[in-house]
Formats: sequence, structure tokens, C-alpha cells
Amino acid sequence: MALADEARRVAAEFEYSAEDVNKGVREFLREMDEGLVKDGTSMSQIPTYVTAVPNGTEKGLYMAVDLGGTNFRVCSVQLHGNTTFSIKTSKVPIPRELMTAETAKELFAFLAKQIESFLKQHHEDHYFGHLERVETGGGTVREEDIFDLGFTFSFPVHQIGINRGTLIRWTKGFNIADAIGKDVCKLLQDEIDELKLPVRVAALVNDTVGTLMARSYTSPGKTGTLLGAIFGTGTNGAYVEKLDRITKLKKAAEKGEIGEYDQSTGEMIVNTEWGSFDNPLSILPNTPYDESLDKESVNPGIQMFEKRVSGMFLGEIVRRALLALLEKDGGKVPLFRDENSNMNDMHTTTNIHDNSNLFKQWGLDTSFLSTAAGDASQGLKITRQALNRELGISAASIEDAEAVKLISAAVGKRAARLAAVAIAAIVIRSGRLEIATVGDGTSEEDVIDVGVDGSLVEFYPGFEDLMREALREIDGIKEQEKRVRIGIAKDGSGVGASLIALVAAKQIRRMSVAA
Ligand code: BGC
Repeated sequence: MALADEARRVAAEFEYSAEDVNKGVREFLREMDEGLVKDGTSMSQIPTYVTAVPNGTEKGLYMAVDLGGTNFRVCSVQLHGNTTFSIKTSKVPIPRELMTAETAKELFAFLAKQIESFLKQHHEDHYFGHLERVETGGGTVREEDIFDLGFTFSFPVHQIGINRGTLIRWTKGFNIADAIGKDVCKLLQDEIDELKLPVRVAALVNDTVGTLMARSYTSPGKTGTLLGAIFGTGTNGAYVEKLDRITKLKKAAEKGEIGEYDQSTGEMIVNTEWGSFDNPLSILPNTPYDESLDKESVNPGIQMFEKRVSGMFLGEIVRRALLALLEKDGGKVPLFRDENSNMNDMHTTTNIHDNSNLFKQWGLDTSFLSTAAGDASQGLKITRQALNRELGISAASIEDAEAVKLISAAVGKRAARLAAVAIAAIVIRSGRLEIATVGDGTSEEDVIDVGVDGSLVEFYPGFEDLMREALREIDGIKEQEKRVRIGIAKDGSGVGASLIALVAAKQIRRMSVAA
């Protein structure tokens, strides 16, 4: 049984054809529409109450915090009003035990503590000045002392106002049952108040919305950005939708379930929560590896698109595929076995360490895929070293590395093609392609701007090219693919969240004047 043939067979299980991609787009469009009409759908299509994208002239000092993956970030952002900004940042890893704490308070108290340390370190005068004034002034807080804060909280939230929203479910390995259904802004504000910090949670921000805002603030030209997308630990996108298409919002307003919101622009950013696109698996590909990954995850049956596209899962898919190959036919496939060791330039005998991460759930980080898929070193030395370092497989042969590379690339390519499904559907639905081009389709007026962020787009070799290849196969896009400008938007959770805090603070002030 030749290893190369076996590896090709496994790689072929991850093929996602042009026909599949087109089917995917049709279903995505259907689910987008469905989510705008009612709640409780596969893709949540959450109204964010952010009704305009910035144009680069916004100014002021704001704070932002970001909870959404492995780290908690606190920053303050000075917007200069000329598309530029300066930022002060601190970052701490979120202790694993807090991700699955008994109570929400444990997690949010930790977050407030980090904000306190940040203020003491980076805004010492402001912080201690405020404390002194509060103590001498009988507890009253001066409005001008308060930092408006954008809270990037990258989980599905049922948003009922720009700074109010209840948690629908956790994703990405977090699991604190006590927090479900609670207003996450209030949870944070209560802990901030307990520490007497001069901070007001002014806006609740999904990281994709922050990415969209950041991109729109900094991107060249006058074209407002259409879509902000994350392809990182998780995946999701937020886009600019016409207000009159978000019919569930109108219904909620009629029933008095939501407060007032600005309708003047006729648009609102919608957080799709596309990680849960096609949870029933009507069109998504499903290999045995996807299936067992899901079954053994903390949230089986949900985030099914995310489980095929994002960084938290791709390494695990590859690990499962490799393990299945190793165990196939009672171990007859010559993967990581001595048979190939004569080709070895490191040791003589291939050996899988007993305690190898190959045998552990989540044992293989997605960064490994980037390493293997992009390996152009002689004899795939880099991949063989990574196998040794990350999976405890010493003296892997070139054939082993070739098999690993092939399978990693297949999983990465499928992810990029699925990502293209989401981008294409949103571009098509926006109607912006129907506006005739003024030139060859690449001039500023013709561009459809998309901001992206996350480790996959940043580090997986050729992720954008693979997405673009799929875009060109999609009916309704084809050669218009070149009108889609995809740019990295760094710092959605910093500058993006600050921009939303700015918009929200204006709204809060306007409403308190009106009241
Ligand atoms: C969350 C989204 C988030 C995305 C990217 C997903 O797991 O549900 O809210 O935008 O990850 O961080």
C-alpha cells in the first residue's frame, strides 16, 4: 500500500468542487434572508445598532477591551481624525479555568481587574486624579473623567441596543452556563463599578463589526467598506445591510422590545454569525474527521461552518485524518513507520513518542497547517522538524512529510473555498456588483471593499488566492472578482471598537439631552 496513494485518497475527501461552492452560495443567500426576518435561525443575522461606517475624520480618546479568543486585551486609542490613530495596549492570556468557570462573575471580575491595571499603568494621572476627586467630592463622578469603552465580545449575542446584549451561546471552547441569557455589558459594568473605575461600557462590539469599522476608517479612497470578516480562532462576518430589509428589527420595535435607534442613514451593520451557517449540514461537506470532531466538541451540532473553516479546528481535522491513516487496516499504511527511514537524514528509526500530541484532542495547532502547506524547503525538512517538535514524531521520512503536506493543504484549501462562499453571498446580496463599472473594474468607484483579520488570512500561505480562485467560479461573480478588494484590517478590536464607542457616546449624550 503506497503512502502517497493513501494520502491522495484522504486529500480527495476534502475536495470542494465549483458546483459545491455554487450550491453553498445559494444556501448562504437563503439563510441570510431568513435570518433578517426572524430570530432563532441557523445564521443569527444580529442587528448591531451601528448605522454608519466611519470616513476617517473621527477624533477623540477612547478605550476598548477585547474578549474573544485566547487573550484579553485592553487598550486606549487616540483617533487623530486623519485616518490615523495611536494606541496603547496590554494583553494577558485568559486563564483556562475562567473559560469554563462556575459563575460569570469570576470571569468578568478578572476582566475589570485588567482594566484597572491598565489605567494605573498607562493613564496614571487620569486614574488617580479621578479617585481623589471622587473621594473629596462625596462620590460624584465628573462626566469628562469618564472613558467611553467599546467592549469587543466575540460571541453570539442577542443585541437589544448599542450597549446592551444578552449572550446566546458560547463558542471557541468557552462554557460558563451561568452567563447565558445575561447582559454582558452589565456584567462588565458591575465589576468596573465595584472597582470605582472611571469607565463606561458605551458599546458592545463583535470583532467583525470592529474589523469593518477599522477598515472603513483606514482604508484608502472614499468607498465605504461592505464587509468585515474574521478568519482566526473562530470565523464570522459583519456587513452593511439596508434597514428596511431587517424586518425583524421593525417587528421588535413595534412590540417595544428594543429602544430607539438612529434610522437616518437607512443602513445598519448586521453581524451574521456565519459560524453557524448550515448547522443542519444540508450542503456543507462532512468527512468522518469533521463528524468525530463535532461529536467530541463542547458544542456538537452548532458552529458547523466554523468547524470547517477556522483556526481552532483545522489542526484538529488534520490530526484526526493522520491518526485514521495511521490506524487504517490495522496499521498497514506506511505512515510514520520505519519502512521509509532509509530516506532519513536525521535519525535512522522513525518513532512516535508515546505521549505524542497526535493522540490528544486539540493536539495539533492550526499554525502547523501553515507550516506544512507552505513548506518549500529541501526534503521538506521544515515539516519534518515540525512533526518532531509538535507531535513528537522523530525522524519522519520525506514520504511522511509529503503525505502530511498534502493533507494539510487539502484541509486549508477547503477552508478557503468555504470562506469564499460567505464573502461571495454578501457581495452578491449587496447589489454593488450591479452598479456598472466606470473603467476596467478596478478604479476606486468600482471597488467593493472587504476588511479581513485573523491568523488564517494572515499566516496560511495563499489563503486569499485560494478564496479568489473560488470567487471566480461563482455564478454572479466570475470575472467581477477583481472588483472585490480584500485588505487586512488590523486592530478591529482596538480602533474599530473605539470608533463604535465614539458613535455610541454621541447617541448616549443625544438621548440624555432629549430626555
Ligand atoms: C463567534 C463570533 C466571532 C467569531 C470570530 C465565533 O466563534 O461566534 O461572534 O465573531 O468567532 O472571532
